[in-house]
Amino acid sequence: MLVNLQKIIGMAEEGNYCIPAFNVYNIETVMGVIAAAEEAKAPVIVQVYPRLLNEEVGYYLCPVVIAAAQKASVPVCFHLDHGPSEWEVTRALRWGATGIMLDGSVHPLDENIAVTKHIVETCKAIGVGVEGEIGHVGSVNDDAMDEFTDPAEAAKFVKETGVTCLAVLIGNAHGHYKKPPKLDIERVKAIREATGGIPLVLHGGSGIPDDQVKAAIAAGVRKMNIGTDVCCAFADGTKETLDDPARSIAVDIFMKKPIETVKKMALEKIRLVGADGKAE
Ligand code: 13P
Repeated sequence: MLVNLQKIIGMAEEGNYCIPAFNVYNIETVMGVIAAAEEAKAPVIVQVYPRLLNEEVGYYLCPVVIAAAQKASVPVCFHLDHGPSEWEVTRALRWGATGIMLDGSVHPLDENIAVTKHIVETCKAIGVGVEGEIGHVGSVNDDAMDEFTDPAEAAKFVKETGVTCLAVLIGNAHGHYKKPPKLDIERVKAIREATGGIPLVLHGGSGIPDDQVKAAIAAGVRKMNIGTDVCCAFADGTKETLDDPARSIAVDIFMKKPIETVKKMALEKIRLVGADGKAE
């Protein structure tokens, strides 16, 4: 069933676990993620990058996500990931998103607060919750990322914007880490405390060691984003098929393996974050 961001984050908050949020790119990655969620009886977030919200991809992909969510027996939220401005937010809402991330983390704090607050108010009119970001989560290729989220700034941001959940920088980054990250778990606790318990979001979920993921969830992370691992699982399944001399070239049959490898990866993440069985 299609649910909004507030509902699915509320489930995680109540049960002290974390919702896996998978970035999807095509019908096969959607199929793999939803198949895993059904098998594990887990609530999931299916999210798209703003670059996909165009007439070439989004026009087809977004209706696929909505159809899959509506058919699913488990709660599924369709979320915009890293929306930079109202333009992308409007497009995502037009295509039925039930969760929005407004990422104003590149702006100074006051500007980030102003733009996020405006989007929270707009989305409230149609019952859609908003994820904000404070402390810019960059790429594993960035030179330095030492401006970790400040708990006092986070408290001000949460109070003034009214976001549903908050993405933070605590040693995480997008992409596969060159060496294992070291998450600042004490900072997670401090941000939770300073904000009165805002549900936190961990971006860059591909490649964080399992014990650190678990510690972050114990400290208050309620949504973990997984993008690179979706791509790698899809590519691995494609390669396996290509390497099989008996493969069929019929695209629907060719795609069975990539769907299966995405499903397998998604099942592992669902279990890691403790979301399995939570939709029963
Ligand atoms: P990874 O690609 O590192 O898993 O990060 C995904 C993400 O955080 C999307 O916002």
